[in-house]
Amino acid sequence: MCGIVGYLGPEPAYPILIDGLKRLEYRGYDSSGVATVEPGGEMSVHKRQGKVANLEAHIGAGVPQGTVGIGHTRWATHGPPSDRNAHPHLGGNGKIAVIHNGIIENYEALKELLTHRGHDLTSDTDTEVLAHFIDEVHRSTGLDLPDAVRVALKEVVGAYAIVVLDESQPDRLIAARKSSPLVVGIGENNAFYVGSDATPIVGYTKNVIYLEDEEVATMGRDGSLTIRTIADAVVTPEVHEIEMEIASLEKAGFDHFMLKEIFEQPKSIRDSIRGRIRLQSGEVMMSGIDDHWAKWEQAERILILGCGTSWHAGLVAEYLFESFARIPVEVEYASEFRYRKPVIRDTDVVLAISQSGETADTLAAIRLAKEHGAHIFGVCNVVGSSIARESDAGAYTHAGPEIGVASTKAFTAQVAVLTTMAMHLGKRLGKLNDQAFMRLMTGLDNIPDLVQQVLDNASAVEHIAAQFAQAENALYLGRGYQFPVALEGALKLKEISYIHAEGYPAAEMKHGPIALIDENMPVIFIATQDDVYEKVVSNIQEVKARGGQILAIINDGDTKVRALADHVLEVPKVHEALSPLLTSVPMQLLSYHIALMRGCNVDQPRNLAKSVTVE
Ligand code: F6R
Repeated sequence: MCGIVGYLGPEPAYPILIDGLKRLEYRGYDSSGVATVEPGGEMSVHKRQGKVANLEAHIGAGVPQGTVGIGHTRWATHGPPSDRNAHPHLGGNGKIAVIHNGIIENYEALKELLTHRGHDLTSDTDTEVLAHFIDEVHRSTGLDLPDAVRVALKEVVGAYAIVVLDESQPDRLIAARKSSPLVVGIGENNAFYVGSDATPIVGYTKNVIYLEDEEVATMGRDGSLTIRTIADAVVTPEVHEIEMEIASLEKAGFDHFMLKEIFEQPKSIRDSIRGRIRLQSGEVMMSGIDDHWAKWEQAERILILGCGTSWHAGLVAEYLFESFARIPVEVEYASEFRYRKPVIRDTDVVLAISQSGETADTLAAIRLAKEHGAHIFGVCNVVGSSIARESDAGAYTHAGPEIGVASTKAFTAQVAVLTTMAMHLGKRLGKLNDQAFMRLMTGLDNIPDLVQQVLDNASAVEHIAAQFAQAENALYLGRGYQFPVALEGALKLKEISYIHAEGYPAAEMKHGPIALIDENMPVIFIATQDDVYEKVVSNIQEVKARGGQILAIINDGDTKVRALADHVLEVPKVHEALSPLLTSVPMQLLSYHIALMRGCNVDQPRNLAKSVTVE
C-alpha cells in the first residue's frame, strides 16, 4: 500500500526522500512523487506513474535542493494510476503539499463543498480533496496551519496518515494519523524524519515516536516537536528505540528479497523460539500468556483472526491448539468477522495474527472484539505496530523485516510461535503429558536444522518448477496439518506467478475439483507420513487414474508415493504437528522459481501491497 517519507533538517531532502521511496517500494505501489520547498522559497513538485526509477529519470540532473520535503509511493484507491493522481497533491494555489495513506470516506461531500466554494480540483483522488480542505479551513478561519490541519481532520471520516508541507513555512513539517501508521524519527542536528513505517527512517536514526490515532505532530527546524490531538489536547511524546538494522533491508547477495527470506528461515524460526523453549528445564516461557493466565484458564474459545497468509497460520494453529490444549478454536477472516455481528464473549481469547501488525481489517476486528470484553493476544512481526500496541498481550515473531510481498519467513515464524504457545497451554492446562511435551520440544528445537536440510536441496525444486512453469492452473491438496499448507502453497503460486491455483483439503477433491483434473492439470500433494497418510495415498491414486501431473511433497525414503507421483520433493519426517514448518518451504521455492521462469516481478507482484492498511 502507499508509503510515506518526510524530512526536515540541515541536509538536502531529496536524496533522503528518494532513498526512502526505494525502501518503501516493497509495500507495493504504482506511482511516486516528491515535493520540497526550494532555497528560493518556492514549492517544487515532481511525480510520475510507475517505478521510483521513472521519477528519478523524469527529474534528471536538476534535483531539488531544499532541506525540507515529502515523498510518497501511491497504491491506487481513488482514480487509476497516473502522473495526475500521484501524490503529493497541492492545495492553497500550489502552496500546500499533502501526501496521504488511507481513504477519506466522506471525500465526495467535502469535494462538493469545496467546488461550491470555487476550488478547482484536477485529480480523481481523495487526497487532493484533503489538501484543498485543509487550505479552505486555513484561509477561512485564519488559524495557523497546524491548527487548521487539526480542525480539518475533525471533519474527516476515514483513515489517514498525512504529511503536510507549507511553502510559506519551510521550517516546519506537519504530520497526522488515524488508523494508518505514521512514525516520526528524531535525528541528529535537529533533523526529523517521517515514515509510514520504520524502513525509510532506520538508516538515519533509531529513535522514533509512533503517532497515535488523531494526533497531529508539528516538527520545527529548531528541533521543536509538539504533538496535539485533533481535540487540541497536548501529548507528551514517548521515544522508542527501534532494533531494526539497515542490513536487514538489503538483499545480501540474493537476487530477490523473497529468496533471501526463504533462505533466512532456519534463523528466523530459531529466533522466534529462542528463549521461549527451554530444553534443559523442559518448559516453555511465554510471559504474554503467563501474565494473563486467568484469561487463558477460563477461555471457552480461542478466536483466531487474520488475513491471507496469517489466516493460514491461524488454520495451522487451530489444529495445534485443539490437539494440545483441547480448547475449541474458530479461525476467521478478519474482514468477514468484523462485518457479520459475531458473537463475542468476555470468556473468549482472541488471537490476532499479522506480520505487519497494520492490516486494517485485523485491526478493526480486534477493536470490535475488545469492545465486547474479549482478551486480545497479538502475534505480530513488526515491533511497535498498531495491532501489537492495541493487544492486551502478545508474542512477537522474530522473523526480522519481511520485504518480499509474498510472505515466507513470517509464515513459518508465526507457525513456530503458535506451536510454542499451544505446547505451553497444553502443558499448563494438563492436556499434554510430559512425554509428549518433551518430544515436541526436542522436535521443535531441531526444526531450524531440518529446514536448512530442505534448503540444501533447493536445486531439485528448480528442476521441477521448469515442468510446471507454463501451467495455467494448479491444484494443491493436503489433509490435516497439511491442509493449511496446501492453501498457503496455492496462494504463493497465484500471487507471484499469476497462475490460477486452488488449495483444497484432499478429501474434498471428490466433491467438485476432481472435475478439473486432466493431463494438463498439475496437482501438488503434501503427502507426509502422518495419521491421514493412507487416505492421501488413495487421493493420489484417484488423480493418477485421471491423468493429472502429480508433484508430491513426501517424507525422506517414502517409496510408495514416489512410485505414484511424477515428481517428488523430500522433507525429513518429523512429528506431524511440526511438519508444516518443513513442507511449506518447498512450496515457497516452487512458486519462486515458477514466477521467475515466467518473468514475473517476484518481490513486487502486480496489484499487491505488503501491508493492506485500507479495507
Ligand atoms: C501473502 C501475504 C498476504 C498477507 C496478508 C496479511 O503472501 O503476504 O496474504 O499475509 O495481507 O498481512 P499481515 O500478516 O501483515 O496482517
